[in-house]
Amino acid sequence: MLKNKARIAVLVSGGGTNLQAILDAEKSGIIHSGEVVLVISNNKDAYALTRAANAGIQGLYISKKELKSQAAFEAAVINALEEYRIDLIVLAGFMSILSEQFTSRYPKRIINIHPALIPSFCGKGYYGLKVHEAALEKGVKITGATVHFVNEIPDGGEIIAQKAVQVEDGDTPETLQRRVMEQAEWVILPASVEKICVALCSGES
Ligand code: GAR
Repeated sequence: MLKNKARIAVLVSGGGTNLQAILDAEKSGIIHSGEVVLVISNNKDAYALTRAANAGIQGLYISKKELKSQAAFEAAVINALEEYRIDLIVLAGFMSILSEQFTSRYPKRIINIHPALIPSFCGKGYYGLKVHEAALEKGVKITGATVHFVNEIPDGGEIIAQKAVQVEDGDTPETLQRRVMEQAEWVILPASVEKICVALCSGES
């Protein structure tokens, strides 16, 4: 594919601070080889949808409950991705595991941000605050964040970028989560998005 900008969809479930980091990076020029054209949420109350609306980007709520099955949910997501001619799918706090049928359709076209240094504290059951609770429970002194390609293994795809963050005495899951976001997630996710968009635009990928 040779084009000026890759078309990006961001899949979200919650607050959307990582979505915001991507949108801010687009504004500041850190991301210049891709543009977010669609935000999909599986949670109708996700503040990320408000962030999309504020940025003038199409937001869509797709309900697994109403569609009644994972297959129907994923079919609706695929329809939207096709309608918007999406090149790159970014999972940014998307709290639902996608099936192999879905992930195998988009090899090296889906990336995810995980709030730990994979292979630590990852896989099924490790998401959001739970990851930081587990890190504190274990007593690690360094944690961080990882951006990786998404394949059929939860948090198991090829690693694109990682950044380490110090755990501090007295940290709670909430203070650690915030530091990992500020020092790692909001830095490596936009940088990874740009890197992959460059490759997609130059036809390398
Ligand atoms: C982020 O910390 C992200 O890394 C994590 O959820 C949070 C979402 O925050 N994702 C996962 O745990 C996925 N397994 P956000 O909605 O403010 O971006």
